[in-house]
Amino acid sequence: MTDAPWWRDAVVYQIYPRSFADSNGDGVGDLAGITGKLDYLADLGVDALWLSPIFTSPMRDFGYDVADYCGIDPVFGTDADFDALIAGVHERGMRLLLDWVPNHSSDQHPWFVESRSSRDNPKRDWYVWNDALADGSPPNNWQAMFKQVPAWTHDNATDQSYLHLFLAEQPDLNWANPEVEAAMHDTLRYWLDRGVDGFRADVVNLIGKGTDLPDLPDPFWKFPLLATDRPFGHELLRRIRSLLDGYDHHPMMVGEVYLLRDGESASYVGTPDAPELHLSFDFRPLHSSWDVEQLPAAIAAMERDFAEPRWPTFVLSNHDQVRHRSRYGSEARARAAAVIALTTRGTPFLYAGEELGLEDAVVPEERVVDPDGRDGCRAPIPWTTDGDHESGHGWPTRPWLPFPVNASTHAADAQVGESDSMHALYRNLLALRRERAVLRSGDMVISPSDGGLFRFRRTLADDTVTVLVNLGDADIDWPDDLADAALVVGSDPRRTVAGGSLGAAEAVILAP
Ligand code: GLC
Repeated sequence: MTDAPWWRDAVVYQIYPRSFADSNGDGVGDLAGITGKLDYLADLGVDALWLSPIFTSPMRDFGYDVADYCGIDPVFGTDADFDALIAGVHERGMRLLLDWVPNHSSDQHPWFVESRSSRDNPKRDWYVWNDALADGSPPNNWQAMFKQVPAWTHDNATDQSYLHLFLAEQPDLNWANPEVEAAMHDTLRYWLDRGVDGFRADVVNLIGKGTDLPDLPDPFWKFPLLATDRPFGHELLRRIRSLLDGYDHHPMMVGEVYLLRDGESASYVGTPDAPELHLSFDFRPLHSSWDVEQLPAAIAAMERDFAEPRWPTFVLSNHDQVRHRSRYGSEARARAAAVIALTTRGTPFLYAGEELGLEDAVVPEERVVDPDGRDGCRAPIPWTTDGDHESGHGWPTRPWLPFPVNASTHAADAQVGESDSMHALYRNLLALRRERAVLRSGDMVISPSDGGLFRFRRTLADDTVTVLVNLGDADIDWPDDLADAALVVGSDPRRTVAGGSLGAAEAVILAP
């Protein structure tokens, strides 16, 4: 391995704990369930696990509404279960990242319960309270995510409104108050002292909104993402970074920065002299369709924004988006996408189940639970073929959501050890990344687009690999200059040698 920081070399695997594995038969996945699958994960070859929130929560936003930043929700298990999990992760040479939700707490968090109790409560200013306007309308024109309602809820008890950029049950913390900053720093220290290796920071760019909250000028852009992208957020992140840098085990923070214009997400890693996040998600590739113009352009834009000394990420799927297997509409495309995700420059973030080629679940109306329509991608992992769309598949009881479509075909036990499976492709690609430093830390040069062909090269010292991806719908002639290249890995299990033509949605990794 190189001497790059561990998170540059790593592949991170996101687990949505409610849907991963259920050890106690209550229909919801839990920490002991994850511990039971650590051998599967180590064998797959991922380096770090990121768990979506496991903290005490009324689950209005399924854990992204935290009622105790240092407590584990009983549905996920106990402190002892957590200790067993982190020990098991570390024993296998992996790392553990937790999901830290700094922008808002639950309305059941004791801080908010106090804050709303009276105008002169010492925690009043821990959240963002304001008077309604003279005509009774909310303090500004911001809209909340999810429900297209005002981002303010009026509280009759004290006759003021509080800000919530998400659900009314998720009041925004006031980071302009140094006591909030100190308390939230303590939550980071708490988990670092318990051995976690870092955090994924939820909607972290929103914490810098400050206290003057102007109306948004654009009526079509009601959610105040842009109004919250302010210097204060960067200041806060620099202080978070220095906290993290005070730990010897090099904890990493990756931020969910949902800003999609050039340079925006990248600005949240700061500069070498004033570092902020270690990594900042760039969702432009995820938002591109399977398209010969769009996808390479998004990857090229990310490459530009995250040029050295910055470092990009690569995300195809997560718990908020339709899975890429469903978005792209075919197994062949999902396979080729896996090649892209694991060979472009940057730290890949895999979403549990993508190594099985999982599709979203079709969730009938009476089973819908998420306030923002994201249940499909959160369907439980089918571990075994035996079962239907409601139950079985290695889950002891009917889980909280139905299974993905074609769960039996995609089940882990149908794929592990089968050389043609999606699982085998991921496992091979992960092994290849470990073997060949060029795939982890090599430079990346993207060739100009040429018909349906997306082509790029990775180079490190005298090692080079070239990746070809056919993003079009027709076969493509093999490039002349690669006539003598050797096949390293191909996305199509039928391919055994280089050459011939490149099928639609086929990807190959070639050595000169
Ligand atoms: C992030 C999370 C999403 C959550 C929201 C509010 O976007 O990924 O799941 O609902 O923040 O916390």
